[in-house]
Amino acid sequence: MVTREPREQLLGRQREREVLERLLEAARGGRGGVLVVHGEPGVGKTALLEYAVEAARGFRVARAVGVEGEMELAYAALQQLSSPSLDFLERLPDPQRDALAVAFGLAAGRAPDPFLVGLAVLGLLSEAAADRPLLCVVDDAQWLDRASARALAFIARRLLAEKIALVFGARQLNDALVGLPELHVDLARAHLLYGEWLRRERRRVDARNELRAHELFSDFGMEAFAERARVELPG
Ligand SMILES: Nc1ncnc2c1ncn2[C@@H]1O[C@H](COP(=O)(O)OP(=O)(O)OP(=O)(O)O)[C@@H](O)[C@H]1O
Ligand SMILES: [Mg+2]
Repeated sequence: MVTREPREQLLGRQREREVLERLLEAARGGRGGVLVVHGEPGVGKTALLEYAVEAARGFRVARAVGVEGEMELAYAALQQLSSPSLDFLERLPDPQRDALAVAFGLAAGRAPDPFLVGLAVLGLLSEAAADRPLLCVVDDAQWLDRASARALAFIARRLLAEKIALVFGARQLNDALVGLPELHVDLARAHLLYGEWLRRERRRVDARNELRAHELFSDFGMEAFAERARVELPG
């Protein structure tokens, strides 16, 4: 269980945090949902996912991360996400359990029916969420293996009556994830936030470099930048 307070140092992102909090609140109340947090590299997606984990008080948390070198390994990410729930394997109907056992390399057999694998993982997550809500976090979803991405999208569309929140972080929208609810994280604003955070930390040289690296702000100069940040960023 996560007992830490949500991090204070996440600058701005008021709107994004509220969207995540609403998703968690709904899941707590038995209305599960999904969100794909997407944006450019370094924009702050993982930071927002970590915020969700910290805000998910009383939730179980299951995680998976897409790995570029594992994109060819069918069900690699799904196995990661499901591993804490495998204790519930015995509760699944036989065909689902058999399909999952083959998918996760626990038994030999022909390639399993993706529908059965999807249903099986949904069943496991649902069991895991029976006594307290569950937050599933899948970061770097642009590198998910195809089988996992499709299974997760299948699951994402069936969370309505579950105490489950599923949050993806992705640089680009994987084909399988297109059409799911999105939260776009804005790049220009991220630089502004990060630069302002550095400035407030009194790391003026780093702040200046952050500013210089981004053409949108390169003509601003430090003082104008700080002024704009003050206007745009609460707190
Ligand atoms: N709102 C913010 N306030 C302060 N620091 C932030 C904020 N957002 C991101 N950062 C910092 O910026 C850096 C990059 O953020 P993060 O790793 O979350 O980006 P990302 O979108 O996940 O990148 P990637 O696509 O490479 O996975 C980190 O050091 C993070 O702590
Ligand atoms: Mg990241």
